[in-house]
Amino acid sequence: MPNRPPNAERSFIMIKPDGVQRNLIGKIVGRFEDRGYKIVAMKMVHATTEHLEKHYADLKGKPFFPGLIKYMASGPVCAFVIQGLDAVKTGRAMLGATNPLASAVGTIRGDYCLVTGRNICHGSDAVESAEHEIALWFPEGVIEYEDTEHAWIY
Ligand code: TYD
Repeated sequence: MPNRPPNAERSFIMIKPDGVQRNLIGKIVGRFEDRGYKIVAMKMVHATTEHLEKHYADLKGKPFFPGLIKYMASGPVCAFVIQGLDAVKTGRAMLGATNPLASAVGTIRGDYCLVTGRNICHGSDAVESAEHEIALWFPEGVIEYEDTEHAWIY
Protein backbone atom coordinates (compact mmCIF):
# COMPACT_ATOMS: atom_id res chain seq x y z
CA MET A 1 0.00 0.00 0.00
CA PRO A 2 1.42 3.42 -0.92
CA ASN A 3 2.14 5.70 2.01
CA ARG A 4 0.47 8.96 1.07
CA PRO A 5 1.35 12.34 2.58
CA PRO A 6 -1.18 13.46 5.24
CA ASN A 7 -2.52 16.30 3.08
CA ALA A 8 -3.19 13.85 0.25
CA GLU A 9 -5.02 11.05 2.08
CA ARG A 10 -7.79 9.60 -0.08
CA SER A 11 -11.23 8.20 0.67
CA PHE A 12 -13.81 6.54 -1.55
CA ILE A 13 -17.25 8.14 -1.36
CA MET A 14 -20.34 6.89 -3.18
CA ILE A 15 -23.77 8.46 -3.53
CA LYS A 16 -26.13 5.49 -3.47
CA PRO A 17 -29.06 4.99 -5.89
CA ASP A 18 -31.50 6.86 -3.60
CA GLY A 19 -29.20 9.88 -3.41
CA VAL A 20 -28.88 9.92 -7.20
CA GLN A 21 -32.66 9.53 -7.73
CA ARG A 22 -33.28 12.32 -5.24
CA ASN A 23 -30.95 14.65 -7.19
CA LEU A 24 -28.61 15.13 -4.24
CA ILE A 25 -25.33 14.64 -6.12
CA GLY A 26 -24.46 18.32 -6.28
CA LYS A 27 -25.29 18.98 -2.63
CA ILE A 28 -23.28 15.99 -1.38
CA VAL A 29 -20.23 16.54 -3.58
CA GLY A 30 -20.42 20.24 -2.68
CA ARG A 31 -20.05 19.50 1.01
CA PHE A 32 -16.72 17.79 0.45
CA GLU A 33 -15.52 20.55 -1.87
CA ASP A 34 -16.67 23.23 0.58
CA ARG A 35 -14.75 21.53 3.39
CA GLY A 36 -11.53 21.71 1.37
CA TYR A 37 -11.33 18.27 -0.20
CA LYS A 38 -10.21 17.87 -3.76
CA ILE A 39 -12.11 15.51 -6.09
CA VAL A 40 -9.57 13.31 -7.88
CA ALA A 41 -11.94 10.79 -9.51
CA MET A 42 -15.67 10.67 -10.24
CA LYS A 43 -18.10 8.61 -12.32
CA MET A 44 -21.67 7.40 -12.62
CA VAL A 45 -21.92 3.62 -12.52
CA HIS A 46 -24.84 1.21 -12.65
CA ALA A 47 -22.99 -1.49 -10.75
CA THR A 48 -23.50 -5.20 -11.23
CA THR A 49 -24.45 -7.52 -8.40
CA GLU A 50 -21.02 -9.17 -8.68
CA HIS A 51 -19.22 -5.84 -8.32
CA LEU A 52 -21.34 -4.83 -5.34
CA GLU A 53 -20.77 -8.18 -3.67
CA LYS A 54 -17.03 -7.50 -3.93
CA HIS A 55 -17.48 -4.00 -2.51
CA TYR A 56 -19.51 -5.29 0.44
CA ALA A 57 -17.64 -8.63 0.80
CA ASP A 58 -17.10 -8.03 4.55
CA LEU A 59 -20.89 -8.01 5.09
CA LYS A 60 -21.65 -11.27 3.28
CA GLY A 61 -23.71 -13.43 5.62
CA LYS A 62 -25.43 -10.51 7.35
CA PRO A 63 -29.23 -10.77 7.23
CA PHE A 64 -29.51 -7.42 5.42
CA PHE A 65 -26.90 -8.35 2.76
CA PRO A 66 -29.32 -9.49 -0.04
CA GLY A 67 -31.51 -6.41 0.41
CA LEU A 68 -28.43 -4.16 0.46
CA ILE A 69 -27.13 -5.59 -2.83
CA LYS A 70 -30.58 -5.30 -4.45
CA TYR A 71 -30.89 -1.66 -3.35
CA MET A 72 -27.37 -0.81 -4.50
CA ALA A 73 -27.97 -2.46 -7.90
CA SER A 74 -31.36 -0.76 -8.36
CA GLY A 75 -29.96 2.29 -10.15
CA PRO A 76 -26.81 4.25 -10.88
CA VAL A 77 -24.49 5.44 -8.14
CA CYS A 78 -22.10 8.38 -8.22
CA ALA A 79 -18.66 7.17 -7.15
CA PHE A 80 -15.88 9.60 -6.34
CA VAL A 81 -12.61 9.98 -4.49
CA ILE A 82 -11.84 12.84 -2.12
CA GLN A 83 -8.27 13.82 -1.32
CA GLY A 84 -7.01 15.89 1.59
CA LEU A 85 -6.07 15.92 5.27
CA ASP A 86 -7.72 13.12 7.27
CA ALA A 87 -10.02 12.31 4.31
CA VAL A 88 -11.12 8.92 5.66
CA LYS A 89 -12.00 9.83 9.25
CA THR A 90 -13.38 13.27 8.44
CA GLY A 91 -15.25 11.86 5.44
CA ARG A 92 -16.98 9.40 7.77
CA ALA A 93 -17.75 12.16 10.27
CA MET A 94 -19.31 14.22 7.48
CA LEU A 95 -21.46 11.22 6.45
CA GLY A 96 -22.81 10.60 9.97
CA ALA A 97 -23.81 7.32 11.57
CA THR A 98 -24.99 4.26 9.62
CA ASN A 99 -28.48 4.81 11.05
CA PRO A 100 -29.56 8.27 9.84
CA LEU A 101 -31.75 8.78 12.90
CA ALA A 102 -28.62 8.44 15.05
CA SER A 103 -26.72 10.90 12.84
CA ALA A 104 -26.18 14.43 14.08
CA VAL A 105 -27.98 17.20 12.25
CA GLY A 106 -25.36 18.80 10.03
CA THR A 107 -24.07 15.47 8.76
CA ILE A 108 -25.12 14.27 5.30
CA ARG A 109 -27.21 11.37 6.62
CA GLY A 110 -28.48 13.51 9.48
CA ASP A 111 -29.72 16.12 7.04
CA TYR A 112 -31.00 14.10 4.08
CA CYS A 113 -32.38 10.71 5.11
CA LEU A 114 -34.22 8.67 7.70
CA VAL A 115 -33.56 4.92 7.53
CA THR A 116 -30.45 2.71 7.49
CA GLY A 117 -31.57 0.86 4.36
CA ARG A 118 -31.76 4.15 2.41
CA ASN A 119 -28.87 6.10 3.88
CA ILE A 120 -27.87 7.73 0.56
CA CYS A 121 -24.08 7.57 0.77
CA HIS A 122 -21.07 5.43 1.52
CA GLY A 123 -17.61 6.37 2.79
CA SER A 124 -14.55 4.21 3.43
CA ASP A 125 -14.07 3.30 7.09
CA ALA A 126 -10.25 2.98 7.12
CA VAL A 127 -7.28 4.00 4.98
CA GLU A 128 -6.77 0.34 3.97
CA SER A 129 -10.40 -0.07 2.88
CA ALA A 130 -10.18 3.24 0.99
CA GLU A 131 -7.20 1.93 -1.00
CA HIS A 132 -9.08 -1.29 -1.71
CA GLU A 133 -12.34 0.45 -2.71
CA ILE A 134 -10.58 3.03 -4.91
CA ALA A 135 -8.81 0.20 -6.76
CA LEU A 136 -12.12 -1.68 -7.13
CA TRP A 137 -14.15 1.27 -8.47
CA PHE A 138 -11.37 3.11 -10.31
CA PRO A 139 -9.07 0.43 -11.75
CA GLU A 140 -8.04 3.07 -14.32
CA GLY A 141 -6.62 5.20 -11.48
CA VAL A 142 -7.37 8.73 -10.32
CA ILE A 143 -6.39 12.11 -11.77
CA GLU A 144 -3.25 13.78 -10.43
CA TYR A 145 -3.37 17.56 -10.81
CA GLU A 146 -2.09 20.69 -9.13
CA ASP A 147 -4.84 22.79 -7.59
CA THR A 148 -4.31 26.48 -7.04
CA GLU A 149 -6.37 26.50 -3.81
CA HIS A 150 -3.97 24.20 -1.99
CA ALA A 151 -1.87 27.00 -0.52
CA TRP A 152 -4.99 28.67 0.91
CA ILE A 153 -6.29 25.54 2.63
CA TYR A 154 -3.03 24.22 4.08
P1 TYD B 1 -21.92 -0.80 7.33
O1 TYD B 1 -20.63 -1.02 6.60
O2 TYD B 1 -22.09 -1.46 8.66
O3 TYD B 1 -22.21 0.76 7.55
P2 TYD B 1 -21.60 2.07 6.86
O4 TYD B 1 -22.21 2.22 5.50
O5 TYD B 1 -22.00 3.20 7.78
O6 TYD B 1 -20.09 1.88 6.80
O7 TYD B 1 -23.14 -1.28 6.41
C1 TYD B 1 -23.13 -1.03 5.02
C2 TYD B 1 -24.51 -0.63 4.61
O8 TYD B 1 -25.39 -1.72 4.84
C3 TYD B 1 -25.10 0.54 5.39
O9 TYD B 1 -24.69 1.78 4.91
C4 TYD B 1 -26.57 0.28 5.20
C5 TYD B 1 -26.69 -1.23 5.14
N1 TYD B 1 -27.16 -1.79 6.42
C6 TYD B 1 -28.48 -2.24 6.52
O10 TYD B 1 -29.24 -2.15 5.55
N2 TYD B 1 -28.92 -2.73 7.71
C7 TYD B 1 -28.10 -2.81 8.79
O11 TYD B 1 -28.55 -3.28 9.87
C8 TYD B 1 -26.75 -2.36 8.69
C9 TYD B 1 -25.82 -2.44 9.87
C10 TYD B 1 -26.33 -1.85 7.47
